[in-house]
Amino acid sequence: MDARLNLLGGGPAIDVKAEILALKATRNAVILAHYYQAPEIQDIADFVGDSLDLSRKAAATEADVIAFCGVKFMAEVAKILSPQKTVILPDLKAGCSLEDSCPPDDFARFRRAHPDHLSLTYINCSAAVKAESDIIVTSSSAEKIINQLPSTQKILFAPDKHLGAWLNRKTGRDMLLWDGTCIVHERFSVTELLKLKALHPAAPVLAHPECPAPILELAHYVGATSGILNYALNSPEPTLIVATEPNIIHQMQKAAPHKNFIGAPGADGNCGCNMCPFMALNTLDKLYLSLRDLTPQIEVPEDVRLRAKLSLDRMLEMAGSVSPVRVTGD
Ligand code: 13P
Ligand code: SF4
Repeated sequence: MDARLNLLGGGPAIDVKAEILALKATRNAVILAHYYQAPEIQDIADFVGDSLDLSRKAAATEADVIAFCGVKFMAEVAKILSPQKTVILPDLKAGCSLEDSCPPDDFARFRRAHPDHLSLTYINCSAAVKAESDIIVTSSSAEKIINQLPSTQKILFAPDKHLGAWLNRKTGRDMLLWDGTCIVHERFSVTELLKLKALHPAAPVLAHPECPAPILELAHYVGATSGILNYALNSPEPTLIVATEPNIIHQMQKAAPHKNFIGAPGADGNCGCNMCPFMALNTLDKLYLSLRDLTPQIEVPEDVRLRAKLSLDRMLEMAGSVSPVRVTGD
């Protein structure tokens, strides 16, 4: 991609990548990116990771500015854990269908209707929902956290019903599930995946637990993005089928260029429909502008932040040090 940007239409084009690196130094900023970001954003980031690793990085960084290349709930986590930092998100409209499915007032009613249940909430939710939750989980930490809870403990799980159902199957629990889904992982087609498997019978299928059960039943490995990446790089198979947002294939291809990573298809037989439209709102140009202007900034009301931090701290403590896969950065 041409990294030159002409901001005002008439002025000279600038080298956006060089400007981002210069601003990063001037601002004492760190760029954190999720695996679902466009390749050119992953390549300029200091650290690329899954939701849990990015939370840990945000909590530990000594930078003054966190430029968060992901979606809004992730940037909010950075602000909740590091309130003294300036947290910027290239496009404030980078939301998430799971967050949208779980309005805080409805969630608070759900909790009130089940006072004897503990509330385990997927990190893909608003700060306000985190503030109403007991423990936050990511897909890489959920199973480990659930297994630390007494087997008799009743649990509410929100907002991803597919992840929740997969966790119920894995742990033998009977968590009460909120009815939310990820619009990206719902688009994979069982019929098209079966056709692809027939073409590559030895290729393992790697799937994210946000996928519906019929897709997960076809998978050889189910896990968070970091786990999928780990599996793909360590597998002896030369061809692998990847059922999660296809931008993660960028890291696979960089680390193992001799292997063939195939994105699982949607109903039209094309994996392009499985790009996350929210993640795609962030671009290099917007990252440059946000570092230049320190906007848009993430703000979380202090009372919400303090309550949300309790549930996030419980996650960080209970998750311990599970499966970090360092692809860039330290
Ligand atoms: P993880 O990177 O934690 O697996 O999360 C995936 C996702 O959908 C983020 O929105
Ligand atoms: Fe939300 Fe799904 Fe996009 Fe992740 S991939 S940010 S869960 S819509």
